Amino acid sequence: MADIVLRTRNLNKTYFGKVDTPVLFDVNIEIVRGAFTALIGPSGSGKSTLLNCLGLLDPQTSGEIDFDGRIIDAPDVNELAAFRNENIGFIFQFHYLLPEFSAYENVLLPFWIRQGRPAAEMEQEALRVMKRIGVAQFRDKAVSELSGGQQQRVAIARALVNRPKLIFADEPTGNLDRESGRSVLELMAELNRESNITLVMVTHDREVALQADHIYELVDGRICKYLDVAKTGKAEAARAIEDRSCTIKPPAGNGA
Ligand SMILES: Nc1ncnc2c1ncn2[C@@H]1O[C@H](COP(=O)(O)OP(=O)(O)OP(=O)(O)O)[C@@H](O)[C@H]1O
Ligand SMILES: [Mg+2]
Repeated sequence: MADIVLRTRNLNKTYFGKVDTPVLFDVNIEIVRGAFTALIGPSGSGKSTLLNCLGLLDPQTSGEIDFDGRIIDAPDVNELAAFRNENIGFIFQFHYLLPEFSAYENVLLPFWIRQGRPAAEMEQEALRVMKRIGVAQFRDKAVSELSGGQQQRVAIARALVNRPKLIFADEPTGNLDRESGRSVLELMAELNRESNITLVMVTHDREVALQADHIYELVDGRICKYLDVAKTGKAEAARAIEDRSCTIKPPAGNGA
């Protein structure tokens, strides 16, 4: 049986405001440990909303998230900050680095948040990760002086430095040109393979999605397709995600 690190049960999300906007409806998904899962779907279908709920950044309205054995059903996102910082790395379309600070200082930020001044071995770890990601040479440069692709690599280094169980990435290359986008994606896929880190990525790029092990498609806030790419085969998976009808049910036992 697959080793599931994250599972949702009937997850619902409504944004309350002048007009209430229900966005997610009974979402049941399973994220396999160590795997790369892609989340696809049209604009406005709820991908970012789902990712923010899974990443415990925004509370669901109802339903449950089982985060590696910890059941999160009525989350207080503030209370979860420490848990998040320890277990989850985030990479967004816009990197949210601190522009005036150096690349190195930005990568060290999660340590500062966790416990104040980082110990020497944490500084070494930050440098090791920066070397691996290919940004060590920008160590002392202000982030605002780096290119978009370089900045996104610094953001990846920052997401990795705590050795999180899970990395959530929301269109991490959406803001980059094709070439830098491709190299950032290759890097993320490599990291996923070599360090067994679990990667959940929102992407509207079907080519990128086909590099994943698992694909979920959201339409109008509902999971309408699930593909296990190894089982289906790439060619069939490619055909399946071109098919815009919602015919493939999530796997049996997945609650849907
Ligand atoms: N903070 C918010 N308050 C109210 N409604 C919101 C909020 N954030 C998102 N929505 C609405 O929720 C729906 C889903 O938005 P979401 O950002 O999750 O979509 P998405 O699939 O990520 O789209 P895209 O591909 O364009 O990024 C949209 O109709 C959006 O207008
Ligand atoms: Mg989005």
